[in-house]
Amino acid sequence: MKKEIPLKQFHRVINHGSVILVTSQIEEGVPNIMAVAWNMPLSLIPPLVGISIAKSHFSHQLILQRGEFVLNVPSPSIVSKVMVCGKISGREENKFEKAKLTPVASEKVLPPLIQECIGHLECRVEQKIEVGDHTLFIGNVLKAWAEESLFDGVWQVDREGAEGLHHLGGDYFAISREKISASVG
Ligand SMILES: Cc1cc2nc3c(=O)[nH]c(=O)nc-3n(C[C@H](O)[C@H](O)[C@H](O)COP(=O)(O)O)c2cc1C
Repeated sequence: MKKEIPLKQFHRVINHGSVILVTSQIEEGVPNIMAVAWNMPLSLIPPLVGISIAKSHFSHQLILQRGEFVLNVPSPSIVSKVMVCGKISGREENKFEKAKLTPVASEKVLPPLIQECIGHLECRVEQKIEVGDHTLFIGNVLKAWAEESLFDGVWQVDREGAEGLHHLGGDYFAISREKISASVG
């Protein structure tokens, strides 16, 4: 038996990918952070990534203005900080201070990396596509970083600190801790 899902929850049927923290900043402002579950790689050559951001968010304004953003990969140990970044707007609070996260200078863009995260993609906006109440920002990945003890071609999710954090919806998350091989032949 299958049950019908309300359309306002349609995305929860298919999307429980990794949640990331997106940093954005304009020259005269403090850096901002937001949680983003709707993210995906889009192209290898050139390296492109997409994030879907509601037009009402402060981060939307900052990314539009500066044309840059950084994706930061949190581990489950900082899930409460992820929720601070996903529930409060940077219009009201400095989320680096509120969540006790540490900004570190990026190499290629103005928005900072988050020191407490285990991976980072520095991106410049290549294209923007209006999709309903969101904008799909397509970013060219200029620089990619990963914690060396936790990433060996792929995330070593069975090591402490490298577990994947996935957003199920609302206040619910899943953690991936087991690496399986599915090679054929
Ligand atoms: C786990 C989680 C995932 C989220 N994913 C997205 C997302 O993919 N796109 C989006 O527009 N908002 C998403 N949000 C909501 C924003 O992170 C949230 O509204 C945030 O406070 C916006 O901050 P800002 O106004 O400082 O930009 C998510 C929230 C949480 C808690």
